[in-house]
Amino acid sequence: MITGIRGMNDILPADIPQWRLVEETARRIFGLYGFSELRSPVLEKTELFLRGMGEDTDVVEKQMYTFADKSGASVSLRPEATASVLRAVIEHGLLGQEPIQKLFSIGPMFRYERPQKGRYRQFHQINCERLGESGPLIDAETLCLAYDIASALGLSGVELEVNSLGCPSCRPAYQQSLRAFMLTRRELLCENCQRRMETNPLRVLDCKADSCRSAAAGAPVIEDYLCPPCRTHYQGVLAALTALEVPFAKNARLVRGLDYYTRTTFEISATGLGSQNAIAGGGRYDRLIADLGGPATPGIGFAFGMERLIMLLEPVTASGKGCFVAAMGDDAKEQALSLLTVLRRSGVRSEAALDKTFKVQMRHAGKSGYPLCAILGGDEIASGTVTLKDLGSGEQTSVARDRFVEAVKETLDR
Ligand code: HAM
Repeated sequence: MITGIRGMNDILPADIPQWRLVEETARRIFGLYGFSELRSPVLEKTELFLRGMGEDTDVVEKQMYTFADKSGASVSLRPEATASVLRAVIEHGLLGQEPIQKLFSIGPMFRYERPQKGRYRQFHQINCERLGESGPLIDAETLCLAYDIASALGLSGVELEVNSLGCPSCRPAYQQSLRAFMLTRRELLCENCQRRMETNPLRVLDCKADSCRSAAAGAPVIEDYLCPPCRTHYQGVLAALTALEVPFAKNARLVRGLDYYTRTTFEISATGLGSQNAIAGGGRYDRLIADLGGPATPGIGFAFGMERLIMLLEPVTASGKGCFVAAMGDDAKEQALSLLTVLRRSGVRSEAALDKTFKVQMRHAGKSGYPLCAILGGDEIASGTVTLKDLGSGEQTSVARDRFVEAVKETLDR
């Protein structure tokens, strides 16, 4: 037996209603906020992610599916959507056509992580990027959008945590003081953090290793180092979230795992997921578009992990409205196929099991979940009628063939 690849899941028919619910809910909320969809390829030049996400991040260092294509060019499966969406925006000059871009994307991402519950190698994101606006109200509105998606899905135990990472004028002073603090606890840090402490000390705050966590206890907090414009911005975001009645908590250790963030960063977590409890993460990235070769343009965005959202949902069953069609005898089966086609072309869902005996067909009808079964046999053919059986009550009525579709629709609409 050839099995699928570890960490890459099949989504089976029974789970599809939940996936559709999540996707349709997100599309509806993005629509309410005036967002448009952008679809980018799953494969990009490796260089895009090196420049976009930062070479010193776990994702780029350890988790990328990178390989040489047949021409020898280094390509990578996208580990996130942000870099790809921005590449597409820049490449197609979208900001020249309209300086404010509000875009969402839904699709698979790939990271070579150690698979566990809620963490996969192919996973799906609902991704939001909002370009061309920089004020604190924009941040609050974007966080509110993420919160609205989680609320519309009816998730409980949801928590929004917010932080500010400052900007290139204030962050270096914080990094310096954090590095000085960590130097005094160097022996507690994992190997990775010992190295990263030099290149990117903020990463230490994000490390999940217990010893690094205890090393970080009592570390200086970034809020104390924010420059006046970053401080005003952060306060503006928090005030606007309060006004919008979006519940949040400040978390000074929330640094996120990607290098492009400036100022506002946030994560949404939910209870009931175990250790992989972040359902969404994002933040502002005011330099990324320029870093990728585009016009200097501020931006903010976030992504939800769809697998994690789906794990939190109650089972969803697909709508069962439709009509089963059963037939007795070859002539009747042939005519039943025409009835099925007429029903479908009139917008009525219908199914049959014409390969089977009448008894087995009726068993399928009972299991179909449809409320109604149309029955065609010798008598019906002779009299130009169809028998409609209510699969709930067992009650049968006879309708003329030329009233058949109308009668089915009337019964289903009741
Ligand atoms: P991220 O925090 O790396 O951010 O991922 C966002 C969400 O994707 C996570 O909160 C989690 O729910 C889900 N996720 C990440 N990795 C996995 C995995 N291996 N298996 C299952 N789910 C996973 C980003 O990707 C940024 N691009 C978000 C963003 C958009 N920032 C600005 N714009």
